[in-house]
Amino acid sequence: MDLNFHLEQKLRDWDAAHLRRRLRSVETAQGPALRVDGREFLNFSSNDYLGLAAHPALCEAAAEALHRYGAGAGASRLICGNFDLQDRLDQALAAFKRTPAALSFTSGYAAALGTLPALVGKGDVVILDKLAHASLIDAARLSGATLRIFPHNNLDYLENLLKKNTGKKTVIVTESVFSMDGDLAPLRELVEIKNRHGAWLFVDEAHATGVFGDRGAGRIDALNLTGQVDIQMGTLGKALGSCGGFIAGSRTLIDFLLNQARSFVFSTASAPAACAASIAALNLVSSPEGTQLKQRLWHNLSAFRNPKSEIPLSPIIPWMLGSEEKALQTAHLLDQAGFLVPAIRYPTVARNKARLRITVSAAHNPAQISRLADALHSLPS
Ligand SMILES: Cc1ncc(COP(=O)(O)O)c(C=O)c1O
Repeated sequence: MDLNFHLEQKLRDWDAAHLRRRLRSVETAQGPALRVDGREFLNFSSNDYLGLAAHPALCEAAAEALHRYGAGAGASRLICGNFDLQDRLDQALAAFKRTPAALSFTSGYAAALGTLPALVGKGDVVILDKLAHASLIDAARLSGATLRIFPHNNLDYLENLLKKNTGKKTVIVTESVFSMDGDLAPLRELVEIKNRHGAWLFVDEAHATGVFGDRGAGRIDALNLTGQVDIQMGTLGKALGSCGGFIAGSRTLIDFLLNQARSFVFSTASAPAACAASIAALNLVSSPEGTQLKQRLWHNLSAFRNPKSEIPLSPIIPWMLGSEEKALQTAHLLDQAGFLVPAIRYPTVARNKARLRITVSAAHNPAQISRLADALHSLPS
């Protein structure tokens, strides 16, 4: 069969099912206002929750690293790509997360994909929350361990699964803040359960890092659970405004991963400029300016959301629409009105659970937030 003929058929099927994706061209730096494909938009689609992606402190740090170390790392960190910046980033991440050690990867996806398969394999068990991110699902599959799913945040179901797998090496995997629903995992209860059953707990703080807790170190730190969560994952590409991912935990965990995580061992290290930007972001988040940015983010979120909502506040606000077609049409209406709000569809979420995913940032001003609220409320029902 001709390859392109086969692929075109698939693309047509996705088109017909309203599932096809296309790239759009962003012509300005990240921020609340963007020019995309030649048009101006108010941006409510980014994970740059604190508005750091184009912050002068990150840009200057990146530019200085670029001039001093060049554009690329040249090799994996175990060969000759381990610039002192990478060590400093690992140390800064460990200090930020208050863990004995941390290890950065080229992305959060790479951190997940390297870590779970290094820790578990055939004969072991990975138990995932139903709404866990694709990187965690892919990592669990790649590990070769038996995969079990518990309904979203259903702790009774999780406990039953643990009872059925007693005696096996088991890791529970969840997200701190769920990426497409914006709700939170019951971390305290998960720690109690994992202790009761002798399982390990892996928590992805991708959308909590930089946002939750006095220090912005995430929900695990805010709930004083550091040391009780065996494996913490995070990304540098969302609230921290740069790119890369990381694992934080014990010194032994990190020494093990730098030997065994294949996405770390067999992949070129992050560009020095990205590491420098990440270090600058960590410094900024821990500074008085970082505290102000977090306060502004939470203020913007409370201004935006329905005061009657019972869902805990988080920077991700899903606007549920159901069908993929309706989600696309609604995103298109908002697009025509000058708002960038993505339609989230299968396979990112389950079929017929399509939605708009609205993200608010510290960089939005009150007028921008109320313009979006007005636009959403004037949408046809
Ligand atoms: C919950 C979650 N985990 C992990 C990742 C992957 O992180 P990165 O974008 O750094 O690869 C994402 C990014 O979309 C995410 O939403």
